[in-house]
Amino acid sequence: MSGKSYEKTVKELSPVLYEHFGEQERAVYRVLRGEVDKNSKVRYDETTIFPGLLGRELPKTFGHYHPKNSIGVGFPELYKVLEGRVWYLIQKPRESNLKIIDEIYLIEANCGEEVIIPPGFGHVSINPENKNAKMANWGAEFENDYNTYKNLRGACYYFLKSKNELANIEKNSYYEAVPELVKIRSKKLSKKLKNLEFLTKPEKYLNLLTVENCFERI
Ligand SMILES: [Fe+2]
Repeated sequence: MSGKSYEKTVKELSPVLYEHFGEQERAVYRVLRGEVDKNSKVRYDETTIFPGLLGRELPKTFGHYHPKNSIGVGFPELYKVLEGRVWYLIQKPRESNLKIIDEIYLIEANCGEEVIIPPGFGHVSINPENKNAKMANWGAEFENDYNTYKNLRGACYYFLKSKNELANIEKNSYYEAVPELVKIRSKKLSKKLKNLEFLTKPEKYLNLLTVENCFERI
């Protein structure tokens, strides 16, 4: 690890929050930036989402899309939960209108589980428990697109804490069309993906990087 780190505060997350509340300087999550491996060209990072509701909303990351690589395939990403549990809300927008979501999934991941963000999907990570959620991630070197999430006030669903411990799920009215949420969990990572080349050359692995291949319905 290079040791470079930064924290995102409630104030910095305010463009994507369900509602506004106090505690503007409170840290919501911390990112530790790793270095790029010279051979694989893959970078390792760690993110810890701290417990503590954001108003009524479960703590979460800002959310972003990945760019496409030089031959037009969206970069995927690989996560592994190191501590606690993480819900990954992944959404695939229509290219002609980013306010229309064609596919939306909630990936529920326990400690030790690996999660692929497939090409073409944006994602938000949510901490559903009242303790730290820590995760590792591997990806090619690229700049995230945060603006689409910012312009639409977050992902197409918000997760609000409810009294009976389960989250209430609210649609984000800034979107024009959103399908019903489908809950899934990761299958075991394919051996063919273990060398991580799929992160920099996803075009060689497209048949493996589908939702059907990577996940099963809960
Ligand atoms: Fe990402």
